[in-house]
Amino acid sequence: MDRLRIVGGQRLQGAVTIAGAKNAALPQIAAALLSPYPLAIANLPAVTDVENMLGVVELHGAKVERSPHAATIDAGEAVSKETSYDTVRRMRATLLVLAPLLARFGHARVSMPGGCAIGARPVDMHVKALAALGADIAIESGHIVASAPQGLTGTRIVLSSPSVGATETAMMAATCAKGETEILNAAREPEVADLAACLNAMGAEIEGAGTHRILINGGRSWRAATHTIIPDRIEAGTYAVAAAITGGQLELIGARLEHMASVVQLLEVAGVSVWPGDRGLMVSRDGPLRAADLTTEPYPGFPTDLQAQFMALMCCAEGAALLRETVFENRFMHVPELMRLGANITLQGTTALVRGGASLKGAQVMATDLRASVSLVLAGLVSEGETIVNRVYHLDRGYEQLDRKLRMCGAEIERISA
Ligand code: EPZ
Repeated sequence: MDRLRIVGGQRLQGAVTIAGAKNAALPQIAAALLSPYPLAIANLPAVTDVENMLGVVELHGAKVERSPHAATIDAGEAVSKETSYDTVRRMRATLLVLAPLLARFGHARVSMPGGCAIGARPVDMHVKALAALGADIAIESGHIVASAPQGLTGTRIVLSSPSVGATETAMMAATCAKGETEILNAAREPEVADLAACLNAMGAEIEGAGTHRILINGGRSWRAATHTIIPDRIEAGTYAVAAAITGGQLELIGARLEHMASVVQLLEVAGVSVWPGDRGLMVSRDGPLRAADLTTEPYPGFPTDLQAQFMALMCCAEGAALLRETVFENRFMHVPELMRLGANITLQGTTALVRGGASLKGAQVMATDLRASVSLVLAGLVSEGETIVNRVYHLDRGYEQLDRKLRMCGAEIERISA
C-alpha cells in the first residue's frame, strides 16, 4: 500500500486547479442508466471512486468510453443485474444505481451498503422514497430487492432529513414516474442541483433542485446529452485549509465562492483572507490563526466533509475551538491520529474540543477514511520533521494527484509506493 512522506515547515505559494466534484460525478454516472441514449460527462475527476462507479455501470451492460477527465456512457444495451455486496461494500455510493435500474427496468437487486468508518449509513430514506413512488421493496439476504411491474407513480415525498443520497434516489426515480413528484425537505447541496441539470440535459423536467422543494414532471423522453461537472467545493476547501495552515497563499483555479459561503465565512473568522481571483478564489494567511467554533450541517451550513480538515487547522490556532459533528455519528477517526502528532483534542460524543497552539511533531499516522486522511496530510505540512501517512488509497478515492498538487506549491511531500 502506498504511503505519503511529508516534511513539514513549507509555506504554500502557487495555484491549484480544482477538479470536478466527485460527489456530483457519482450520481450522474448512475443516472446514465436511466436513458437508452449516450451521456457524455466532462470535467470528471481522475479519482478511484469515479473509476469504480464507471465499472459498476459497465457491470449492468453500459458501454463506457473513457478519456482523461471525461467519459461517454451508452446504456442502450444495459440490463438490471444484481449489484453485489462486494461491489457496494467497497463504495457505498454504488447504492445510487438502485433508482435508475428500478425506474427503467421495473426491478433491481442491490446489496445493502453496510456501515463504513464514519457511521452506520442507513438507507431507510432511499427505500421509503421508492416505496412512496409505488415500488414493492423487500430486504432479502442483505439485498434491497425492488420491483415496480406497473411502473412508478408520481407523488409527494417528504424526507425526514435532507439526505443527499435519498434526494438523488427520489429525483432519479421520479423522472420515470407517471405524473408529477414533489420532494420536500430535499437536500440543497450543489451536487444535487448539478445532478438535476444533468438529468434535464438528458430530457428530464426538474425544477427547484438546490432548494428544499424539488418538482419532477415524470415520463419525459430521453435524448443523447452532454454535461460538465461542477468544481469540487470540498477539494477547494481542503486546499484553502492548506494555504491557511501553512501561512501561505494559494489560487484555487475554478473554485466557486457561491458554493463555499459557510466555509469562507469560518476561514475569515479564523483570520484567513479569501477573495475572488481572476480564475477562482485566492486564499491567504499571514497573521495569527484564531480559534473558531464550528457545527457541521446540511448545505448551506458548514459541510461535514470539511470538518476533519478544519480540525487540523484549529490544532494550530490560538485558543480553543469547539467542533460539533451533527451529520455523521462517528466522524472523528482522525482525532487519535492527530493526537499522535501532538494535537490537544478532547472528545465528548459528537463534540471535539481542540486546544490550539500545539507545536506538532511528525510521526507515522494511519488514514481511515477519505477526509480523515487528508486532515493528516494537512497537519503533516506543519509538523516538525517527517510524517508518514499510511493507507493512501483512502485519499486516492477523492483527491486527484494530491501529493503532486501540493508539491507544485512548495510542499515537501512524496508518494512512497509499497
Ligand atoms: C453524501 O453522502 C456524500 N457522498 C458524503 O460525502 C457527504 O458526507 C454526505 O452526503 C453529507 O453531505 C456522496 O455524495 C457520494 P446523506 P450520503 O444521505 O448521501 C443519514 C465524502 O467524503 N441517512 O446526506 O450518504 C446518514 O446516516 C462522502 O465525499 C439516514 O439516516 O449522505 C447521515 O447520518 C462521505 N438514512 C445523514 O443522513 C438514509 O436513508 C446524512 O447522510 C440516508 C441517510
